[in-house]
Amino acid sequence: MSDKKPTPRQQILQMITSYWSATSIHVAAKLRLADHVKDAPQTADTLAMLTNTQPQALYRLLRALSSVGIFEEDAAGRFGLTPMAECLLDVHGSQRAVALMMGDEHYRSWGELLYCVQTGKPGFDHVYGKPIFDWLSEHPEEANIFDAAMTGFHGPETQAMIEAYDYAGINMLVDVGGGNGTVISAVLKKNPAMKGILYDLPNVIDRAKKNLADAGLASRCETIAGSFFESAPAGGDAYQMRHIIHDWTDEQCHTILTHIRKVIPKSGKLLVIEMVIKPRNEPQPAKWLDLNMLVLPGGKERTEAEYRVIYAKAGFDLTRIVPTPTEVSVIEGKPV
Ligand SMILES: C[S@@+](CC[C@H](N)C(=O)[O-])C[C@H]1O[C@@H](n2cnc3c(N)ncnc32)[C@H](O)[C@@H]1O
Repeated sequence: MSDKKPTPRQQILQMITSYWSATSIHVAAKLRLADHVKDAPQTADTLAMLTNTQPQALYRLLRALSSVGIFEEDAAGRFGLTPMAECLLDVHGSQRAVALMMGDEHYRSWGELLYCVQTGKPGFDHVYGKPIFDWLSEHPEEANIFDAAMTGFHGPETQAMIEAYDYAGINMLVDVGGGNGTVISAVLKKNPAMKGILYDLPNVIDRAKKNLADAGLASRCETIAGSFFESAPAGGDAYQMRHIIHDWTDEQCHTILTHIRKVIPKSGKLLVIEMVIKPRNEPQPAKWLDLNMLVLPGGKERTEAEYRVIYAKAGFDLTRIVPTPTEVSVIEGKPV
């Protein structure tokens, strides 16, 4: 391989065509190709039979993926796993659900990026006719994939977050928009004296309950169904929201934060876990996730200054930003 730096033309061409590889990974995930070769490499013909696909076309898909290190073709023309292909196995925390979700609703919504930039409105609503979380509550299969994708995409942030931020002194943690429960489970396991409340929409709570029970935390973590646009559960001395605030506009965040402000004690803590946008040209995944927020739920990633403004408007003081080894930081606040 040449160690020559790619030219601007090569670089931009690679970016322009990057959806080719993204879409190919999506199809591989959909067909469960990694699971089919998990125990032994298989030919495209065998895989075509197992996946009800056209053998030559499937071979070409596998060959292209193998050319970038996803699957590997041996001398007998059989395709086997590589470390990257292993990430597509159908196991907890893998990237399979991320690939499924990104190649489906996300991809279709990103197709509307021009509309989003022209109007400032989400592409998802334009394609699917309603906001993403309303749509997910009517589509249980996709909602399950969404939950699993959150773990696949943001999973490593959880450990980093509980190591970087000291939860000592918190007796009752409310995880607002706690999703599938993996985040609060990790916090409660690290802090055995702490109790928790997971708050999310009714359909999500049904799934979270099972995960909390499986983690042996049913007695330490209550689940409450509701909407953070209507209220927040009382009783916590800390209110945590990971990847909630970035889903919403400043006005919607104001409503969410105001509901928490009403119930949080004077000595309570607000913990928002998000990526904090850095200035100007600094490369940062958050700048792309920010566009994903524009396209899907209609929210945004924010700078420190923007967090200070939404905190202050809702009656919170931003006390400190604790970085973690991952992209996210813990943006701590207290009521004023
Ligand atoms: C991006 S996910 C984050 C989930 C979880 N906090 C995590 O970090 O994995 C956003 C969560 O907000 C929840 N949510 C969306 N609208 C809500 C509402 N109106 N009230 C409560 N939860 C809501 C969704 O169901 C979903 O679980």
